[in-house]
Amino acid sequence: MALKITVIGTGYLGATHAAAMAELGFEVLGLDIVPEKIAMLSEGRVPMYEPGLEDLLKRHVAGVPGATGRLRFTSSYEEAGQFGDVHFICVNTPQKHGEYACDMRHVDNAVESLAPHLRRPALVVGKSTVPVGSADRLAARLAELAPAGADAELAWNPEFLREGFAVEDTLHPDRIVIGVTSDKSEKVLREVYATPVAEGSPFVVTDFPTAELVKTSANSFLATKISFINAMAEVCEAAGGDVVKLAEAIGYDERIGKKFLRAGIGFGGGCLPKDIRAFMARAGELGADQALTFLREVDSINMRRRGHMVELARDAVGGSFLGKRVAVLGATFKPDSDDVRDSPALNVAGQIQLQGAQVTVFDPKGMENARALFPTLAYAPTALEAARGAHAVLHLTEWREFRELDPVGLGEMVAERRILDGRNALDPDYWRDAGWTYRALGRPMA
Ligand SMILES: NC(=O)c1ccc[n+]([C@@H]2O[C@H](COP(=O)([O-])OP(=O)(O)OC[C@H]3O[C@@H](n4cnc5c(N)ncnc54)[C@H](O)[C@@H]3O)[C@@H](O)[C@H]2O)c1
Repeated sequence: MALKITVIGTGYLGATHAAAMAELGFEVLGLDIVPEKIAMLSEGRVPMYEPGLEDLLKRHVAGVPGATGRLRFTSSYEEAGQFGDVHFICVNTPQKHGEYACDMRHVDNAVESLAPHLRRPALVVGKSTVPVGSADRLAARLAELAPAGADAELAWNPEFLREGFAVEDTLHPDRIVIGVTSDKSEKVLREVYATPVAEGSPFVVTDFPTAELVKTSANSFLATKISFINAMAEVCEAAGGDVVKLAEAIGYDERIGKKFLRAGIGFGGGCLPKDIRAFMARAGELGADQALTFLREVDSINMRRRGHMVELARDAVGGSFLGKRVAVLGATFKPDSDDVRDSPALNVAGQIQLQGAQVTVFDPKGMENARALFPTLAYAPTALEAARGAHAVLHLTEWREFRELDPVGLGEMVAERRILDGRNALDPDYWRDAGWTYRALGRPMA
């Protein structure tokens, strides 16, 4: 009999995972505690923007005409417990308020809500990003609470999907990592991931702590790479160098590589910032804080970029934002997503507004979320409208739509043709040829 799968927590990770599991042929039940999400998903609608996800969902959600019907949603843990052989925990693990540490409340709640309904053999699989040591603790809790006793096992299976490519990354992962304590759990997970493994996805089997650490160390490495090039941007500015050329030149070295070497206003989102902080906090608890002190510098380089972008813009408009209009292109933390969690773009927009400018934001997909988070900023329905009367236009999220803007047309809307590229993603010559002053982080003024 084919395995039946539940996915607990249907946000960016869980909704994608649930739809992907249905695509792989499994019967899937998604569970969330937010009734509006369950209502939308049950109609085949996605509560966030993720390319390709709505199509995938519609192909499988029961009740949608022509769908396979393999995917359903519920808010009942009892139903989930009865239904599933494998239960993926995909709930959020935010930063604790006022601390660096990870807030494990939602994971703990999910395990404690599910466990009492596990009356037959089942595998609970953690996918959320958690501090090392959590899986050991949760396995003990599961054994305590599940009526099935030792037949209810735990595994850890960190997730590496990238928002914007979530569907592709889930269906064709570049690696699958599982932390297990029994051959039985490994066998079940090999069955779940049989299709991507057959296609060539590497399958790494390890223990709990290593599986947990793989995720946090991968994120720490990526954050370090971004902050490295941003540190080089600071040095380039001091020395009159060009960080874009520098990145191109060092990127030809295969050991360094070109990816994640675009200097700009730094990383944000619901993962990297909170994950490196939680990693530092956990290392401190383990007595290994010295090993990760470099992450404090990675974090501060990153946060400095936002302030630096504000200074660059203030300088560009003549030293003060008072009475100035600023257009901000981009609100999400990265393109092809509607996610504005810890978004550098919105952070910069907010700071500039607090310093007295009238800031108008446009983002192709993130407007609703941005408005909810920063209701006092002004929002325009198009990039052109956002630019109307602006003394400076700030390019802060590298959407393709912004790279394709016509500088001549945009030039007719603004008060001053001044573009500041916070992502080093626009072509300076193209903008300068249309009469704009182009400035970017880590590049000479020209
Ligand atoms: N978003 C990503 O790109 C990504 C990538 C890899 C790993 N992760 C990790 O995956 C986890 C989830 O991230 P996300 O971005 O999907 O978060 P999210 O906030 O989008 O989704 C979490 C969902 O869990 C639900 N939830 C909370 N408590 C619940 C409970 N007790 N029972 C059932 N549902 C509950 C929430 O209502 C929400 O819908 C985090 O640990 C994150 O670090 C995320």
